[in-house]
Amino acid sequence: MQRLVAGNWKMHGLMADAVARSTALARWIGATGIGSAGSSVEVALFPPCVQVASVSALVPASVGVGVQDVHDAQQGAFTGAISAEMARDVGARWAIVGHSERRRGLGESEALVARKVAASLRAGLRPLLCVGEDLHERDAGRAIEVVEAQLAAVAAEVGAAGLAQLVMAYEPVWAIGTGRNATPAQVGEMHAAIRGYLLVQGAGVVRVLYGGSVNPGNAAALFAVAGVDGALVGGASLVPEQFIAICQAAAGGRVLGTSQ
Ligand code: PGA
Repeated sequence: MQRLVAGNWKMHGLMADAVARSTALARWIGATGIGSAGSSVEVALFPPCVQVASVSALVPASVGVGVQDVHDAQQGAFTGAISAEMARDVGARWAIVGHSERRRGLGESEALVARKVAASLRAGLRPLLCVGEDLHERDAGRAIEVVEAQLAAVAAEVGAAGLAQLVMAYEPVWAIGTGRNATPAQVGEMHAAIRGYLLVQGAGVVRVLYGGSVNPGNAAALFAVAGVDGALVGGASLVPEQFIAICQAAAGGRVLGTSQ
């Protein structure tokens, strides 16, 4: 399966930073072929939405650019929000939905997350759906139950055909921006649970990324875990050398599509 390395820039950087990161990545993809069409690694970038069109123009077409959130409605009196259609219209191909910084930080319910997945699919955006438990839930032995409930809400909204179009990101809340990683055993167990749940729902095989303090030092070990199909990278995606090193680790030496 083609691995996906996705960079979530969150609310970091001005246009000059976005241009510098995009240009560095484009140059590296051009030089190595990693991340180009036919490569073993797909690369996606999630800049702040005001930078999506500019970033799209700077990176090769093989790099999918996406938004970090969408509203669940197609249009309306929702000051400050953007619709999936608007994002698609300026070049976005992906939408992150259900990030814990929105679920837990901004109080987004499971039902709202599910409607945002549906809105993204309607607009032709591919949802990158984030799920994950907090530390309290993990310590209580409820991690899989919590994640399955998050999946169930989306399944109820979009059905098997919708689930089949998702890419999943397992992001334990306690590992995001903390420098802490889930252990390979925890990651392997949860990825298997997510994959199994989606199979039972009739969604087929869906890519499942890991997210939470992925960096050049731990990426190769995470990619070596069975069932890890890539990474959703926050902090390290802001530094081109670090993001590139993670993409390189995802290629794992099996780089297809190079000109050599
Ligand atoms: P992090 O963020 O890599 O900085 O932990 C990951 C994410 O929130 O997607």
